[in-house]
Amino acid sequence: MTHLLWTILGYLAGSIPFGVLVTRALNLGDLRTIGSGNIGATNVLRTGNKTAALATLLLDGGKGAVAVLLARWFTGDDSAAQLAGLAAMAGHCFPIWLKFRGGKGVATFLGTMLALAWPIGLLCCATWLAAFYLSKISSVGAIAAVASVAPWTLVFGRTDLTITALLLTFIVLFRHRENIVRLHAGTEPKVGKKT
Ligand code: G3P
Repeated sequence: MTHLLWTILGYLAGSIPFGVLVTRALNLGDLRTIGSGNIGATNVLRTGNKTAALATLLLDGGKGAVAVLLARWFTGDDSAAQLAGLAAMAGHCFPIWLKFRGGKGVATFLGTMLALAWPIGLLCCATWLAAFYLSKISSVGAIAAVASVAPWTLVFGRTDLTITALLLTFIVLFRHRENIVRLHAGTEPKVGKKT
């Protein structure tokens, strides 16, 4: 019963579309009609407002982390924490408030992993940064980061997290399928360039 409760709470927390709310609050327009139309920090950056993009990154990451930490705190059970993190990811990518048309889950993935196992979360962040530094393409950083997470769970002997890591990877890759097509075609924009 408590697992179901934390799954629902995680989903509702993840469903909060902070990118849309932040851009609306700052009168930056409707994020879904800007750039890629995605509701994440990368697309908020395309409004030209770096503070809004940073706020979106932290809030979207924070909702995944808070869902995991609260579930663990109240239940003392890591499986409830993992379910809450997965549900927060599902909420971000398929939010009830936006007719299930949400984001790509990268910030929420990083926040969730930092809360589940911070060394693995930090390595995912470092992988994102390294791949982004080399490519200057946000989706390349995202794909590299999520591809690295399951192997990191094995390296750290956290096989209890491997299934969750693979599910998170699948969700993020599924949400990046249009980016993957553009990357293959060589038309994916670098950050700072128009889509
Ligand atoms: O974090 C999302 C990023 O990987 C891609 O975003 O707007 O370029 O499709 P976008």
